[in-house]
Parts: sequence; C-alpha cells; structure tokens
Amino acid sequence: MKKKSVKFSKTVMSQIMLPGQANPSGNVHGGEIMKQMDNTAYVVARKHCRNNVVTARVDEMQFLKPVFVDNLITCRAHLVFVGHSSMEVRVRVEVENLETSEQPEVALTAYFTMVALDEAGKPTAVPGLKLETEKQKREYAKGKKRYQKYKNDKQK
Ligand SMILES: CC(C)(COP(=O)(O)OP(=O)(O)OC[C@H]1O[C@@H](n2cnc3c(N)ncnc32)[C@H](O)[C@@H]1OP(=O)(O)O)[C@@H](O)C(=O)NCCC(=O)NCCS
Repeated sequence: MKKKSVKFSKTVMSQIMLPGQANPSGNVHGGEIMKQMDNTAYVVARKHCRNNVVTARVDEMQFLKPVFVDNLITCRAHLVFVGHSSMEVRVRVEVENLETSEQPEVALTAYFTMVALDEAGKPTAVPGLKLETEKQKREYAKGKKRYQKYKNDKQK
C-alpha cells in the first residue's frame, strides 16, 4: 500500500458553542468538546485509510482553558503515527471569543487512536505514513513509544 503524507489527511473543523452544550453558568461541558475532537480524529483517520474507523483509545486528554457559550472552537488534527490497522491522531482545540479581537488560545489537546475496520468489522491494514519534516519524525517516534507501551501492557 502506498504511503500517504501527514498533510493529506490533516483536518480543521470549527463550531460555535451553543447554550444546550453548556451548564447553567455557561461553561461548555467537556464531553461536548471531546465529541468534536472525536469527530475530527475520525475524519483524519478515514481520509487516510478510506475504511470505516472506530475510536479505540484516547491518551493525554488535557483541559487547559474553559470554553463558554458563543465561543468558537476549532479542532486541528493530524496523524502522528500509524501501526498496522491503528492510527494515532493528535487533536488540538483552539478557543476564540468572537466578541473581542484576542487571539485564539489552545483549550484542549489529546491523542486519539483510531482503528480501521474492513467490511466484516475486523481490523484491517492501513497505508503507512510518509514523514516529510523533522517535527513529524519526532512526533512519530513518540507515537511509536505509546503504541509499543500499549502492546507491552496488554501482554502483562
Ligand atoms: C478497536 C477494536 C476494533 C480492536 O479490536 P481487537 O480485536 O482488539 O483488535 P486487535 O487486538 O487486532 O487490535 C487492532 C489494532 O488496534 C489497536 N488497539 C486495539 N485496542 C487498543 C487500545 N485500547 N489502545 C490502543 N490501541 C488499540 C491494536 O494495537 C492494533 O493496532 P495495530 O493493528 O496497528 O497493531 C475493538 O476493541 C472495538 O471494536 N472496540 C470498540 C470501538 C468502538 O466502538 N469505539 C467507539 C465508537 S467509534
């Protein structure tokens, strides 16, 4: 299978936060933002492999800034590592107050492991990742460590 670049599947998705997604004080529920992150990771993985994909794992989810009703959130996601049937996607969420001219801030970050499934619902091979920059190589090496740790822990 031909390798594909990181930029081939890189994805950006934005959404305005609505009152139904928040608590009575206007703070958006973490799960609402995680859903957008999961959607974005899904698109990245699906673009890369062209198969059905499911979420198998989320690592290092960090909530760094609060998100309020009427904020714009932008999920930026790209592949960092690819195994045989699994793909690790880094998702960064920026929050922006559209009432002011302040710059967007990073509100959440996480790594989503997505697994490609064939028509029978079984894990299936995905294309490799073509690494084109030093940053991509560094991220790939870290992703490979998380992948190997999961494999080692599973054997225990
Ligand atoms: C994800 C799933 C398909 C894996 O099935 P499985 O029988 O465990 O398959 P395998 O053990 O062969 O693993 C397949 C790949 O997934 C990876 N994987 C499976 N579970 C994982 C986990 N918890 N964390 C990280 N990677 C995982 C494996 O490392 C393997 O990667 P590789 O092929 O790149 O080496 C299965 O656990 C599942 O269906 N889970 C529910 C998924 C779901 O419904 N998500 C929410 C809705 S989208």
